[in-house]
Amino acid sequence: MYDVWKPPEQRPLRQLPGLLASSLGLLWESARTEFVLVAILQVVSGAMGGVLLVLVKNLLDAIQASSASQDFGPVLGWLGVLGVLTLLTTFSGSMQWELQRILGEQVDRRAMLRIFEVAGVASLEAFETPDFHNRLERAWISSGSRPTQITQSLLSLMSSLAGVLGVVIALFAVLPVLVPLLLVGSVPVLLLTARGSKALYAFNFGLTPLDRRRMYISRVLTHREHAHEVIAFGLAGFLNARWRDLHDQRLAEMRTLVRQRMWLGALSSLGNTLLFVAPVALVSYLLVNGTMQLPQAVAAATGILLLRPTLQGVIWSATQLYECALFLEDYEQFVRMKDELVAEHGGGPAPASFSTLRLESVTFNYPGVEAPALRNVTLDIGAGQVVALVGENGSGKTTLAKLLCGLYAPLGGRVLWDQTDTAQVKPAALRKSVAVLFQDFCKYLLDVSENIGVGRHERLGDPDSIREAAEHAGAHAFIRDLPEGYRTLLGPEFEGGHNLSIGQWQRMALARAFLRDAPLVILDEPTAALDARAEHELFDSMRTLFAGRTVLLISHRFSSVRSADRIYVLHKGELVEQGTHEQLMQLNGQYADLFTLQAAAYQSNGVAAEAAERNGAVP
Ligand SMILES: Nc1ncnc2c1ncn2[C@@H]1O[C@H](COP(=O)(O)OP(=O)(O)OP(=O)(O)O)[C@@H](O)[C@H]1O
Ligand SMILES: [Mg+2]
Repeated sequence: MYDVWKPPEQRPLRQLPGLLASSLGLLWESARTEFVLVAILQVVSGAMGGVLLVLVKNLLDAIQASSASQDFGPVLGWLGVLGVLTLLTTFSGSMQWELQRILGEQVDRRAMLRIFEVAGVASLEAFETPDFHNRLERAWISSGSRPTQITQSLLSLMSSLAGVLGVVIALFAVLPVLVPLLLVGSVPVLLLTARGSKALYAFNFGLTPLDRRRMYISRVLTHREHAHEVIAFGLAGFLNARWRDLHDQRLAEMRTLVRQRMWLGALSSLGNTLLFVAPVALVSYLLVNGTMQLPQAVAAATGILLLRPTLQGVIWSATQLYECALFLEDYEQFVRMKDELVAEHGGGPAPASFSTLRLESVTFNYPGVEAPALRNVTLDIGAGQVVALVGENGSGKTTLAKLLCGLYAPLGGRVLWDQTDTAQVKPAALRKSVAVLFQDFCKYLLDVSENIGVGRHERLGDPDSIREAAEHAGAHAFIRDLPEGYRTLLGPEFEGGHNLSIGQWQRMALARAFLRDAPLVILDEPTAALDARAEHELFDSMRTLFAGRTVLLISHRFSSVRSADRIYVLHKGELVEQGTHEQLMQLNGQYADLFTLQAAAYQSNGVAAEAAERNGAVP
């Protein structure tokens, strides 16, 4: 069961070392060469300031000496060194930028891959829980720039601290009282800036659900899958307005945040100013009352002037570090979830086959929904049988199919493969033994053979099996007519992409089920989009096509289920009737009702009824 995650109220700074270590690890794993080069270049360019100062001093000395000796050789020499160093500094600066571009891209790639790893082991239930998507979204956002930023902040914090230390030592010699004054004075400034970071984090955290809804609207407005309805219903204006509404809410929240951060900024500027003015005032006072001499006062003032930018550098990089830690914690939490999710996937191997599949008093509730989608359902499916599941919309048919696939686990009762309780089996192993055609099957914008091959991706390189599956699904004929046959890319939004009709797409999905070659086949409304002939052919040949396999067929077309070995009728999540078509008709219950209702539509027209009867395509 997917557990909703609540962030801790306070993010202790204690997490900072761990986050730093994992960020550095991420950088190291992603692009160690670029990382090392960037770090070296940063250190070198940091040291270059001091070297340049020394060079300028030497140049001035050389100028002084050469004006006496009239020998300009040393001056030219120092000018040359200065020129070469300036060139190197500028070049290393631009190199750093370019390398950082690659570093950023590599870190982004690695971070994304780690997010995909979590998504790859998450349950269907997790994907149906808003909390999972909120966390995913936050991890996504934080993974981009934050790992690089946190290490850069660490590097600049270290260099600023080194700068502060130098000046502090010098100041201590001149006027020791200035040191505690400046250091203690910077603490409130640091706290105020950190509060601003926390407010920014809280803003992003709180707005994730709203932002996700807004992003959904943008997708509806801009993606092909919705374009036909958006254009046909003239929805662009309506959706635009909805997007603006959601964005207005974001803007309102952002205004509150900005106001808060402006206040915090004003207070910390005040603190910064006091931090500068108070020591200068102290030095002036000591100078005026004669406690301090002019050279000492000049040295102290220079120290204060030098300390100001380095101290601000420390405050800035420390808060950047804190801010990154807040955001990265979301990413780390999400990535760590992989271990929990994999642990949930424990269990033994799946049985290779079965003689009876049994649902025993199975109850299932969707997360957050009180009414059970399945209530106390007990049914048997014998090996080699074609078993049908019917019932009105929302009666629980698809839910039951997903339980059989191991996509959901029952909350009560058991799903048994003979004596094996599937709760004790690794879900992935169980799924290998099931071929399923979902009611809302996927349309992969890949080429035709990949669209079929993903049914058993290990067989992607086996064109004969793919072709055979396509033939069984009645797809081979139209695939042959495609511009590049099985190599035709599907999806008109890609260059050279080709679109299919919905029925052709459904045949692709059916071909996947054939290719999967598993003992249990679940077909959830497999012919909803197929033409009458294709539907008739499929049901006519189902026993031959799926010979040796067990088929669970879910359908609203009663003509297609009447020949099933056993029919189960679900109503509001409960199993209300079961038997063969003849037994259920005799029972005169819900099945008979629904069957008669559907048949009446055909029987009201004598000609259609006669034709249908002849073809066996309708009841
Ligand atoms: N992911 C979900 N989260 C919450 N409730 C769900 C979810 N999927 C389905 N339900 C609810 O569970 C009940 C059974 O749904 P299910 O999809 O199993 O019905 P069905 O019999 O397959 O219907 P249909 O004939 O329309 O395909 C419905 O009330 C539905 O609203
Ligand atoms: Mg369904």
